[in-house]
Amino acid sequence: MEILDLLEIVDVSRRFDAFLALDRVSLQIEAGEFFTLLGPSGCGKTTLLRLIAGFDQADGGDILLDGKSIIATPPEYRPLHTIFQNYALFPHMTVAENIAFPLRMAGCAKKEIQSRVGEALENVRLPDKAGKYPDSLSGGQKQRIAIARALVNRPRLLLLDEPLSALDAKLSEQMQLELINLQKDIGITFIYVTHDQSEALALSHRIAVMDHGRIAQVDAPSRLYGYPNSRFVADFIGKCNVLAGHVREQQGDCVTVELDGLGPVHVCRSETNFGVGSRCALTLRPEKIRIGRFSSIPGASDTMTSMSVADTVSPLGDESHFTGYVHDLLYLGDVTVYNVTLSNGILLETLLANSASGRTNFFEVGDRVEVAWSCDAGHLVLD
Ligand SMILES: Nc1ncnc2c1ncn2[C@@H]1O[C@H](COP(=O)(O)OP(=O)(O)O)[C@@H](O)[C@H]1O
Ligand SMILES: [Mg+2]
Repeated sequence: MEILDLLEIVDVSRRFDAFLALDRVSLQIEAGEFFTLLGPSGCGKTTLLRLIAGFDQADGGDILLDGKSIIATPPEYRPLHTIFQNYALFPHMTVAENIAFPLRMAGCAKKEIQSRVGEALENVRLPDKAGKYPDSLSGGQKQRIAIARALVNRPRLLLLDEPLSALDAKLSEQMQLELINLQKDIGITFIYVTHDQSEALALSHRIAVMDHGRIAQVDAPSRLYGYPNSRFVADFIGKCNVLAGHVREQQGDCVTVELDGLGPVHVCRSETNFGVGSRCALTLRPEKIRIGRFSSIPGASDTMTSMSVADTVSPLGDESHFTGYVHDLLYLGDVTVYNVTLSNGILLETLLANSASGRTNFFEVGDRVEVAWSCDAGHLVLD
């Protein structure tokens, strides 16, 4: 038997006058997934969520649930529920009354309401909170109650639009852990919207990165981080150095790239095929770059010491070496960020963990340093 995706979004577009808010978006979301729409403000996340919920109509394309189009189904008949920022529990109602609210609105019988409220509280593992008021609950418990309220109508899908965006960093992190556990417990498909890349990485099974109404990349968090398919995704997900250049040679799994202003480096080939001469960009995470005192990185020292900064490319091997100067540094407690100026003024962000006891300042501003990375440290994208 063929396994169907729970939700299929097929070529969906939405136009506001001349402005194309969604441009032929296609996505498949599987049952039980924690799926996130991630992108900068204004890229179309809420617009897409509203189309899924049925609050708004697409100008083209289709949305299928279990293989059947729901485009013509009014929102109240779609088996899904939307949760907005802050969860909005009614403070003057008990937990049970809060959860019962959508059922009372729908005119459910009293007995039915009672059993469904009990079931929802069991689902979020707070059966003893029925008589409590929201103010007496912790942030995580309030979140569970809001989700219990969303679950009473037994939706197939929960849509969440930036529910944590108003919280401070620490509380948000706690709530993220709660959300992960909750989604695992109840097993319902979550479609989660956020502009916060770290939140998306922490929560999601898969992420769709959006850019100007289009899907830039859909992948698991570690794939997005390690193998971004474009400069935009590399830049948007985590910190990333992006060095532009062109392909000089491709031999087996190794690509020789001539980096603008820096010279040739070896890069392991990605899935994409790069024609010789084509423009490309090397995306390089700060933590993948080694930084050492000038001439301190083994293998580089012998050849490096006699070279001037202007011609700092070492003979090509599995590692790329460059020299530069510490432009500035940022002490962040667990790590220190060193921005290193290479020849031609290119600024490279590197990271050093401050894990050795007593060591926090390895370098000062103006220190001459060497940076090095291995050929599989970076990832090549078209530019
Ligand atoms: N009802 C509307 N009328 C006109 N423009 C809209 C409307 N809704 C959204 N937009 C525009 O569409 C774009 C995407 O909006 P939205 O989906 O809310 O972005 P996001 O949720 O990613 O921040 C924005 O430029 C926004 O101004
Ligand atoms: Mg939005």
